[in-house]
Amino acid sequence: MRTQVGIVGAGPAGLFLSLLLQRAGIDCVVLESRSREYVENRVRAGVLEQGTVDLMDELGVAERLRHEGMPDPRLDIRFNGNIIHIDLPILTPGRIVTVYGQQEVVKDLIAARLQRGGEILFEAEATALSGLDTSKPTIHFKRAGKDETIECDIVAGCDGFHGVCRPAIPDSVLTVYDREFPFGWLGILSQSKPFPEMSYANHERGFALASRRSPRLSRLYVQCTPDDDVANWPDARIWDELHVRLDDMDRTELEEGRILQKAITPCRSFVSAPMQCGRLYLAGDASHIVPPTGAKGLNLPVADIRVLSRALIEFVRSGATAGLDRYSDVFLKRF
Ligand code: FAD
Ligand code: DHB
Repeated sequence: MRTQVGIVGAGPAGLFLSLLLQRAGIDCVVLESRSREYVENRVRAGVLEQGTVDLMDELGVAERLRHEGMPDPRLDIRFNGNIIHIDLPILTPGRIVTVYGQQEVVKDLIAARLQRGGEILFEAEATALSGLDTSKPTIHFKRAGKDETIECDIVAGCDGFHGVCRPAIPDSVLTVYDREFPFGWLGILSQSKPFPEMSYANHERGFALASRRSPRLSRLYVQCTPDDDVANWPDARIWDELHVRLDDMDRTELEEGRILQKAITPCRSFVSAPMQCGRLYLAGDASHIVPPTGAKGLNLPVADIRVLSRALIEFVRSGATAGLDRYSDVFLKRF
């Protein structure tokens, strides 16, 4: 097989890139180790910044987002019995937050890619990359038990934190900046009516956050120690802590529901530089992860892709490498 841009990973980074390249008439193939059903139901982030919403609009994939997305024009900060309302339309006119699950974004991007005649190979796991320092890098992958290859002009490594692309860059080339914070977030998904506003609470027992994924699905977090175990957090303890930290002592504001997912995320910042090696370009979690405190979620991968797609289009159309040469530096300036 052969393509112009071989994209490893059908997460937000890989899928947005595939649609931007497809729109520019550039041939690309997306390889994804998981099944379509699996990636379409993987619940992760859900807070979309305006730039991500605008890009979905620009790509013509915002139809469902317009109907089902939940604009969040206001955030609340709770502490010592006080509430500060942060009114985004006043502070940042035209730029608000929209809540729409990452799994819904992924469904919309996959549907558009396939409907527009693009290719995604599901259950095709990249196993190695070769020839990165040549003009014909190759992705080696396994599909239905068979070893296959795809020869490309460029490889886009969008395969997340545990993928194979970043490790394909020699250690001598990469500098890794890694910081583990002395706390983690225990996050739950609960079948219950969310708080009306996204609410951040500063409490002496630790931070708490009330967010949401849909009108009947709450996303709630309590700060814990980084090495804590979910086994230490029976449902009743989580609700008790949430009521206390969110200053809902009479238990009238926060609705409790069936907990569908419970996990601890250690808070960590990891950045590897450069984001490029020969003809391989990394984007999204493959290159960097930030702690959930900033609610960057899929917005940071999307920001990478905006810069990378412009540079790739320029390269494929004219052979000019100026944009690609600057890609890593432009992006890493953010950190
Ligand atoms: P990913 O979404 O990880 O996509 C990478 C894709 O590559 C995956 O589909 C993977 O299956 C595929 N892949 C991996 N290896 C290979 C291979 N060898 N061959 C082919 N395909 C491969 N942010 C929030 O704001 N709120 C949250 O609640 C939240 N929860 C999260 C929970 C988890 C478990 C994780 C990992 C992240 C979470 N995030 C959250 C962060 C946010 O979801 C990620 O930053 C975002 O998914 C990154 O997008 P990406 O496209 O770079 O990588
Ligand atoms: C989420 C929301 C946030 O505001 C944040 O800082 C982290 C995560 C969320 O909805 O998952």
